[in-house]
Amino acid sequence: MNINVSGIGITKFGELWDVSPRSLAHQAVEAALEDAGLTASDIDVLIVANMLSGILGNQEHLGALFCEELGFSHIPSFKVEGACASGGLAVHTAVNSLLGGQYKRVVVLGIEKMTDHKPELVSSALMGAGTNEERLAGVTFPGVYALLAQAHMKTYGTTEEQMASVAVKNHYHASLNPNAQFHTLLTVEKVRKSACVADPLKLLDCSPISDGAAAVILQKTEDPSSLKLRRASRGRKAEIRIVASQVATDTLGVAQRRSLTMLKATEIAATKAYKEAGVFPKDIDIAEVHDCFTIAEILAMEDLGFCEKGKAAAFISNGKTTLGSAKNLVVNTSGGLKGCGHPVGATGVKQIVEIVEQLRGRAGKRQVSDARIGLTHNVGGSGATCVVHILRKQE
Ligand code: COA
Repeated sequence: MNINVSGIGITKFGELWDVSPRSLAHQAVEAALEDAGLTASDIDVLIVANMLSGILGNQEHLGALFCEELGFSHIPSFKVEGACASGGLAVHTAVNSLLGGQYKRVVVLGIEKMTDHKPELVSSALMGAGTNEERLAGVTFPGVYALLAQAHMKTYGTTEEQMASVAVKNHYHASLNPNAQFHTLLTVEKVRKSACVADPLKLLDCSPISDGAAAVILQKTEDPSSLKLRRASRGRKAEIRIVASQVATDTLGVAQRRSLTMLKATEIAATKAYKEAGVFPKDIDIAEVHDCFTIAEILAMEDLGFCEKGKAAAFISNGKTTLGSAKNLVVNTSGGLKGCGHPVGATGVKQIVEIVEQLRGRAGKRQVSDARIGLTHNVGGSGATCVVHILRKQE
């Protein structure tokens, strides 16, 4: 697939009470344009990934809104929504719109503003991604993932300590990321002693409520002007190509699933993505996986084929995916959703930004040496949508 990521931009993630959504969009998109050496007039289409602006901010019609705000004059623009997978879905949509041939350069903006609203309102809005039955039963996403955690513990003997180790690792990685929401280091004990949100998940097993934006510019490599740009930028930064982009879905609610110890949509999307890219799980050097709760990273490691079923918890807690001690695969160098933050519509785009930084060799203190192939894994709801991208550094 001849699609490359020519520009990336990201804001700080966190509780950004003094920054408006418009300002977040400017920061992310202007950084991406500058990175690509482009201006607004070079862009053919803007795709906005967002989940909650309508319900929390009473603002819809984000395509036209951000086109006007960002100075993209009269170009086509639309919003993509798929709960927490909105960002990944928007990137997938951008890839396909380029492959379809109508557009040459696409900006994808992932954006979310969550912390200005009461936590109970945000929890209820997030549950819009679940089923009516789940909502009527009073379940929230920590509750849904707690059920998955209990099933995994019962089936495979996964422990609370092992789950806590995911948070410890991801907060360590986040401490090296200037844009991350948290720079606090955790211990397994601290995670276990934090308040219980939904048994067995503690507060520090959960991703937080966050604000933030990320943007990427995708373009076809055949585009002569992109070749010119590439030549001009040779020696400045590596060319990073998207070599697979796959989406799969599953039942919206967990009660309708055959298994609670895996996310089938992840397995399906990943299998197709490996085939499309012509690689195997063992070839992946770095991955940004969807750790909305610590159990979710354990499930992801197994469903993506990085570990056998039931083996991921020990693999992670033994440091096998931690920066500096991992031999083959480092996971969530950004800090993941847990440590970097989870502004839901922005997360899938941020994952691409992080992998591109790593493959370019520009990830600073969290750089993984010799990273050549990276994977992103973005999940909506309790696993009803899954998006997998594979990116490769062109030698
Ligand atoms: N990880 C680490 N620290 C967290 C945190 C998290 N997930 N959530 C809150 N904190 C910190 C806050 O920064 C604050 O620290 P401070 O006292 O030093 O300022 C403290 O814990 C209390 O924060 P507060 O905002 O009162 O927490 P809360 O009880 O309102 O919310 C959760 C905590 C876990 C319920 C909330 O973060 C949550 O709902 N997370 C899940 C989000 C979700 O479902 N996303 C979709 C996934 S599918």
